[in-house]
This record gives sequence, C-alpha cells and structure tokens, in this order.
Amino acid sequence: MNPLRSLILAAARNGAIRRVVATAPVSRDVVRRFVAGETTEDAVATTRRLVESGLTVTLDYLGEDTTDSTLAEATVRAYLELLDRLRAEGLADRAEVSVKLSAVGQLLDERLALDNASRVCRAAETAGTTVTLDMEDHTTTDSTLRILAELRRTWPWVGAVLQAYLRRTLDDVGRLAAEGSRVRLCKGAYKEPDTVAFADAGEVDRGYVRCVNALLAGDGYPMFATHDPRLVRIISERAEAHERKPGSFEFQMLYGIRPDEQLRLAQLGHTVRVYLPYGGEWYGYLMRRMAERPANTTFFLRALMSRN
Ligand code: FDA
Repeated sequence: MNPLRSLILAAARNGAIRRVVATAPVSRDVVRRFVAGETTEDAVATTRRLVESGLTVTLDYLGEDTTDSTLAEATVRAYLELLDRLRAEGLADRAEVSVKLSAVGQLLDERLALDNASRVCRAAETAGTTVTLDMEDHTTTDSTLRILAELRRTWPWVGAVLQAYLRRTLDDVGRLAAEGSRVRLCKGAYKEPDTVAFADAGEVDRGYVRCVNALLAGDGYPMFATHDPRLVRIISERAEAHERKPGSFEFQMLYGIRPDEQLRLAQLGHTVRVYLPYGGEWYGYLMRRMAERPANTTFFLRALMSRN
C-alpha cells in the first residue's frame, strides 16, 4: 500500500489526531465538499438537488465503530426520521439508504445489529425504498454477510457490498450474483493485511474486472462503485458484451467526486447513484477520502493552514 495512504488510514483511527482535526475551525467548511451537512434537513435538500439533476442517491448517516448502545439507537432513529422525510418529500423512489452495521451495534453484539438493521429495513419498506449494507474492514465481512442473509429472508432487496481488494471476493460474488440480488462492487477503503487483501493497485483493478464480469454474467443487479475512468470504460464495454441494458445495472460515485462524470453517465441513460453522507461524525469518512487521493489531502491541509 502507498505509504501516504497507510499513514492517513492510521490517522483515521488515532484519537488525538481526530480531536485536532474535528475541532479545527475550517474543517467543517472543507467537509462540506464531501458531506451534505449535519441535519436531516441538509440531507433531504441535497438529495432533492441531486435528484432534480437526474441522479439517484444513497444516503449514509455518518458514524461507525460504535461501542455504545445509546449511540447505536440514535443512529437507527436518524435513519427512521430520514426515511420518513424521504417518503413525505416524494424522494423515496430515487433515494435509498446505506447502513454501516458497526454504527448500529455490530461490535457490541451481532444480534443487536441485526435487530437494528431490521428496523431500518422495515422503515425503508414503508417508505418504498431500499437499504444497502456498507462493507467495513475484513474482520466484519463474515458477520455482515450473515446479517445480510438473515435480512434478505424478509427483504430480498437488501443490497450487499463486496470489496475487490479482498482475496476472497470473487467467491463471494459467485454466491451473491443470484436473481434479484443487489450487489455494490467497490475497490475497498480500509487498511488490510496482505494475507487477506491485494497490496498492489494493479492486482486490485484486475480483481475488480474479474468481479465485473462475474456480476454481469449473473442474474443479479450489479452496482459498480468507482471513480476510476479506466474501470468505468471497461464496465461500459463489458455491459454491452453481456447485453446488459441501462437500468439492469448502475454506476455509483461518492458525493463531491467527479460530479461532471456522474452527470455525463446519467445523460447517456445510465442509472447513476451518488453516495451522500451526512451527520456530525464525518471524521473517519473524510480520512478515507484523503487516503484515496493526495490532491484531496493537499486541498484539505491548505484550507486548514490558511485559516489557522
Ligand atoms: P481510485 O481511488 O483507485 O481512483 C482511481 C482513479 O479515479 C484515479 O486515478 C482518478 O483518475 C479517478 N479519481 C478518483 N478520485 C478522483 C477525484 N476526486 N477527482 C477526479 N478523479 C478521481 N469502500 C468500502 O470499503 N466499503 C464500502 O461500503 C464502500 N462503499 C462505497 C460506495 C460508493 C458509492 C463508492 C463510490 C465507494 C465506496 N467505497 C466503499 C470506497 C471504495 O472502496 C474506494 O475506496 C473508493 O471508491 C476509491 O476507489 P476508486 O474505485 O474510485 O478508485
């Protein structure tokens, strides 16, 4: 792994660095480039703007690695409020939610996470939309896939996420590329040991393409999450080769990253879903974005220094 990326990902889990960055006066302005804001109102307003421009949305209430059941409960309530608002505002057919199981109790107790995720799924069903379970570091993969399987018994539309950097992923794709199965494929954003993940970026990309082929050949609904122009081109070509029409798969990108490309793909008739985070707990999310792209880090540090 690139040393800068390793350093930033280590900082993402460092409490002292977190306190400095999270309280720097400018941070909140910079964060706005990648995050909708802190409140449900902010999230709904940004969703409306994206939907009106022809995009679809998946909303993430920020927070992860919760070891406090009160915080897990607050996260569930935030999702319930959001889903209710999406329904009331007529946005639920274009906007779903993404949930990190570690934010709803997975580190405390798998059963608690399942119960909490079930409450979110029930609210999504009432609102007329769907839920995707984000994938976190490799120590949670089996637990997340177990919870996914349990949720899908009642709500078969619950989306999975698979990370191309994990050596196991092609096997997981084989198990999940079934009819009706919504699967988001991403490269993977956590610092992982070489024993479980490819260290070389080229190997990750080759793994990604193998999974693209397997997902397109299967009967599920693939959701290709990447900003990588080369992969976007390959996905488009492979989709044509597999006679996949627009609407039988989708592209996904993060809010604030390559917005022009998001609109270009939508104008070609593709479904493009923007992953839109909101809430006060933006630190871990932002640090992963910094790790992916040194230009983002420079932008962030320059803004910090110019104010301090
Ligand atoms: P990568 O970061 O390797 O970038 C490749 C190329 O893309 C760059 O060389 C550049 O050309 C272009 N590019 C990237 N950023 C750009 C920018 N800011 N401006 C211009 N060009 C840029 N991860 C995870 O572990 N679990 C999860 O659940 C999710 N969920 C998720 C949802 C969605 C919708 C997305 C888009 C991503 C995730 N991820 C994730 C994150 C994912 O694993 C990965 O870390 C990032 O998407 C970065 O990888 P890329 O595929 O974009 O390529």
